[in-house]
Amino acid sequence: MTNDKRLLNRVAIVTGASSGVGRSISLAYSYQGAKVVCADLRPEPRAEAAGEVEEGPTHEVITKKGGEAIFVRCDVTKSADIQSLIKEVVAKFGRLDIMVNNAGVACPLVPVNDTSDDDFDHVMSINCRGVFLGCKYASQQMLTQEKLNENGDRGWIVNVASTFALIGMGNILPYVTSKHAVAGITKVAALDLAPHGIHVNAICPSWTETALVSAPLQSEPLKQLLTSMHPWGRLGKLTDLSGAAVLLASDDAAFMTGAFLVIDGGSIVQ
Ligand SMILES: NC(=O)c1ccc[n+]([C@@H]2O[C@H](COP(=O)([O-])OP(=O)(O)OC[C@H]3O[C@@H](n4cnc5c(N)ncnc54)[C@H](O)[C@@H]3O)[C@@H](O)[C@H]2O)c1
Repeated sequence: MTNDKRLLNRVAIVTGASSGVGRSISLAYSYQGAKVVCADLRPEPRAEAAGEVEEGPTHEVITKKGGEAIFVRCDVTKSADIQSLIKEVVAKFGRLDIMVNNAGVACPLVPVNDTSDDDFDHVMSINCRGVFLGCKYASQQMLTQEKLNENGDRGWIVNVASTFALIGMGNILPYVTSKHAVAGITKVAALDLAPHGIHVNAICPSWTETALVSAPLQSEPLKQLLTSMHPWGRLGKLTDLSGAAVLLASDDAAFMTGAFLVIDGGSIVQ
């Protein structure tokens, strides 16, 4: 009998798993049969994510649904945290197959001349350094593991970038800079790791309704403006993203590396 679960028994780490995009990817991976390690600063969802707060921590939701998941506290900006996260995962599950570098933060909406040095460093440390550390230490572990199948796959790294990895927008310099850096990390890591069977790809969502963007979306005129920039006629939903993240962690991505999957309702082709 064949099993149609696309990530059956794969071991996946998702950073920033407590809320939003990371939470939705964690739930989708578990649904596809993966063992999920939910890594975040704390297990509780962000207070701005009302429905998520009611449901409780991601790993508990997965466990209640019959899946396998644990929470590991981790600050992605800290090399020691990422290294001990990976050690803990290998000690518990024996290997690491999938690393989703998702944890990220936004920045205040101000022009370059008013951008604070601290905001720049803060956003870069999480959105850029965090992704670098995730790629570095996950791939070190994957390189020690046997190949999984005849395609020669040794692991899948999925970086959560943004349409702002590919285009710019005024007033969010630290965020756009950090996501362009994620594009660079994805390209170079893909080249470095391709000979070893490790896929490195990215998803590029546009504006998606999560706690991250709840402040700007509270302004109805801004929300309408942003919606009008999407030919599909709406902003992104979390369910729009998880399928792409599953694809990039699965055998179906056999010949994909260094790719950017844009999930944006057509906004950046205009
Ligand atoms: N929401 C959007 O419109 C959108 C669009 C494109 C890309 N993205 C990207 O998706 C990713 C997730 O964003 P989201 O919208 O789900 O945000 P979110 O704020 O809902 O969730 C982010 C999670 O990351 C965690 N986190 C923050 N700093 C961390 C750190 N130092 N270490 C570990 N975890 C940390 C938070 O605790 C939170 O649980 C980010 O990389 C973001 O840039 C979001």
